[in-house]
Amino acid sequence: MNVFILALFLLIANGESADLQPQNAAVLQGSSAQFNCSSTQPPQIMTFMLNGRLVVTIMQTSGVLNSTDRFSASNFTTPGNYKWQFTISNVQRSDAGVVACQVLGGDAVTATLSVQDRGTVQIAGGNQTKMLGVQTQFSCLAAGWYPEPNMSWSVNGETQFCNKSSVTQGGLYNSSCTLTLTASKNSTVQCLAAIPALNTPDSNTVFLTVVKKDQTVLIAITVAFSAAALLFLIIYGIIFFCRRKKKKSSYQEEVRRARVQSQARISAIEEVRGRDNRGYITDGRDRAYAYANIKGQNNGGVWYTKNSNRLQLPDDFFGDDQRKHRHMTMV
Ligand SMILES: *[C@@H]1O[C@H](CO)[C@@H](O)[C@H](O)[C@H]1NC(C)=O
Ligand SMILES: *[C@@H]1O[C@H](CO)[C@@H](O)[C@H](O)[C@H]1NC(C)=O
Ligand SMILES: *[C@@H]1O[C@H](CO)[C@@H](O)[C@H](O)[C@H]1NC(C)=O
Ligand SMILES: *[C@@H]1O[C@H](CO)[C@@H](O)[C@H](O)[C@H]1NC(C)=O
Ligand SMILES: *[C@@H]1O[C@H](CO)[C@@H](O)[C@H](O)[C@H]1NC(C)=O
Ligand SMILES: *[C@@H]1O[C@H](CO)[C@@H](O)[C@H](O)[C@H]1NC(C)=O
Ligand SMILES: *[C@@H]1O[C@H](CO)[C@@H](O)[C@H](O)[C@H]1NC(C)=O
Ligand SMILES: *[C@@H]1O[C@H](CO)[C@@H](O)[C@H](O)[C@H]1NC(C)=O
Repeated sequence: MNVFILALFLLIANGESADLQPQNAAVLQGSSAQFNCSSTQPPQIMTFMLNGRLVVTIMQTSGVLNSTDRFSASNFTTPGNYKWQFTISNVQRSDAGVVACQVLGGDAVTATLSVQDRGTVQIAGGNQTKMLGVQTQFSCLAAGWYPEPNMSWSVNGETQFCNKSSVTQGGLYNSSCTLTLTASKNSTVQCLAAIPALNTPDSNTVFLTVVKKDQTVLIAITVAFSAAALLFLIIYGIIFFCRRKKKKSSYQEEVRRARVQSQARISAIEEVRGRDNRGYITDGRDRAYAYANIKGQNNGGVWYTKNSNRLQLPDDFFGDDQRKHRHMTMV
């Protein structure tokens, strides 16, 4: 059979070339890869080879001759376009390489197959809560990728540069990068890892919650301090006011007492006068003068014997005139 096919190849070599699409396929390990091989002429024989190994043969008369569960072909022929789709299922690392399609009598056309590995993406530490204005670091690790992934950050949808560093182990890459951010607002921080086999990058998203310096506490403290200060001022004010009043009132009290005393004495004097039955003038205001007169008239005896003390009045209780009188008469 093989010999027969080979003979056919050699016999009917009319230079008819096929077309293999896509030229480059990047697929994840374990997934499937598809290639379309098409020809404008009806191919009597079409073969698919992977890395030089014949894996599928299609005969115009009998269809797919050789297929396994991993390698298969299906007919997509339309009028004028003889197309077969070659599928590699459960793609293995070893499948990576060159896919070739050849139609009888034509040259082989090739495409490349890239088998890739999808790893994990993780932002270390997860969600973060920071005080407003604090510098925050996010660290992203993309582990177990092939090839080396493209990495980037997205902060609130805006792409940020990732200063990537990578290590390899067993043909897989561990790539990491850090992002330094000043906590200014609640943000969505996303780390993306891309390889050609992925239509959309893999990503990990965390949230940065920004808390303002606790304003309620600040307000509470301010209010408390203000209240304390106000209270202190009020208390101080009251104490100060009372002291002044007391001072003032004690002075007035003294004066009043002195006045009462003097009045009492004058009453006594008047009593004396009544007994002595002597006329004298009280002008109502100048009682000391009256008293002095009385004293003079009584020869100084009666009053002084009854009241050993002098008339107790503040020095400046009366005007200078009275004082002079007093001095004059009392001596
Ligand atoms: C092959 O061709 C068919 C039909 O045109 C299409 O549906 C399919 O997606 C193609 N496959 C590839 C790998 O391009
Ligand atoms: C492929 O499909 C076309 C159109 O349906 C059909 O004419 C042709 O016989 C098929 N080829 C084989 C080998 O089955
Ligand atoms: C089918 O492929 C296997 C190897 O994959 C090969 O040994 C066998 O000879 C092939 N059969 C035909 C009929 O081409
Ligand atoms: C981060 O927060 C979001 C919601 O705010 C939550 O859905 C998610 O599970 C959190 N992630 C971690 C790692 O805690
Ligand atoms: C890559 O990352 C994985 C998971 O974090 C870890 O187990 C492994 O040791 C790392 N490899 C290297 C070479 O750092
Ligand atoms: C790049 O990342 C490393 C850690 O992986 C960090 O120490 C360094 O500061 C970063 N450089 C810049 C410019 O971000
Ligand atoms: C961030 O969100 C939290 C609630 O999710 C809110 O309490 C806080 O005020 C927000 N911070 C800013 C800066 O908007
Ligand atoms: C990786 O990034 C480079 C430069 O930005 C870009 O040219 C390339 O297409 C990217 N590859 C993938 C798989 O996203």
